[in-house]
Amino acid sequence: MSLRVRRAVPPLESFREEVLRGLGRPRKELPCKYFYDATGSALFDQICELPEYYLTRVELGILRNHAAEMAELLGRRCLLIEYGSGSGVKTRLLLDRLVDATAYLPIDISPGPLLASARALAVAYPGLEILPVCADYTGEYPLPRPRTKPARRAVFFPGSTIGNFTPREAERFLKHVGQVCGRGGALLVGVDVAKGSQILERAYDDSQGVTARFNLNLLDRINRELGADFDLASFRHRAVYERTLGRVEMHLVSKRAQQVRVAGCHFSFRGGEAILTECSYKWDLAEFEQLAHGAGWRVR
Ligand code: AVJ
Repeated sequence: MSLRVRRAVPPLESFREEVLRGLGRPRKELPCKYFYDATGSALFDQICELPEYYLTRVELGILRNHAAEMAELLGRRCLLIEYGSGSGVKTRLLLDRLVDATAYLPIDISPGPLLASARALAVAYPGLEILPVCADYTGEYPLPRPRTKPARRAVFFPGSTIGNFTPREAERFLKHVGQVCGRGGALLVGVDVAKGSQILERAYDDSQGVTARFNLNLLDRINRELGADFDLASFRHRAVYERTLGRVEMHLVSKRAQQVRVAGCHFSFRGGEAILTECSYKWDLAEFEQLAHGAGWRVR
């Protein structure tokens, strides 16, 4: 079986633009979607194995225990679309239970892991049409047409990645998914809920320093791809749970006053000044249900 990867990757110009815009803000920030180059994707896989990073373990447990029930709700002959498919471990738990799925359409920003997991799934599920798309799923891109007409489109969005959106962005995203799926469509989404700040801060600042390397790799990627001179030793990783905002924030903190050049532009940092690199919202389930209702979804 041949695998064709459709590409709608964000061009280098948009990476440069978003970086320059974020660093030009009074409160500096960088978009978290750019964590996932080859190095970042490998570091993320390592994060998922960390004892402190409970999210992956817990969600895999939920899927192992309830995949049959979930597949039942999604119904027969569905077209499964996955956003940010990564390595595809969770996908298998669902695919093993889905009855007569017509096709699997993984969308990921990272071409290497996307192709590797699509290949592995093609071997494991020989009858299943696999239609990988390399794209930023927050943007606009055409979806390939499956050979067989499905009974419904179902979007699989695990990992609490929806937590990387602000509540407003999450609402827009839920509406967008509603349009992608159409009437009778389904969304299976993993959402992390709020818990003690110590558990949360450890999950995002582990003792082996893997999350720190994951965060700092963003500066390294900017150095490599955009011609910048970030001195990685002059920045440190920080994770804080902002309870009033309902989110864990990851920062890169400048250890000293310094100047950095990025794609020909200069940026000054004060000692202790932070770049916000990621927000991970921890939802209250009732509030999330309300958000979903507001975006036109019925919750099952
Ligand atoms: C799985 C992408 C949602 O926010 O928990 C892990 C990314 N960042 N450790 C999350 C992440 C730091 C992760 N997502």
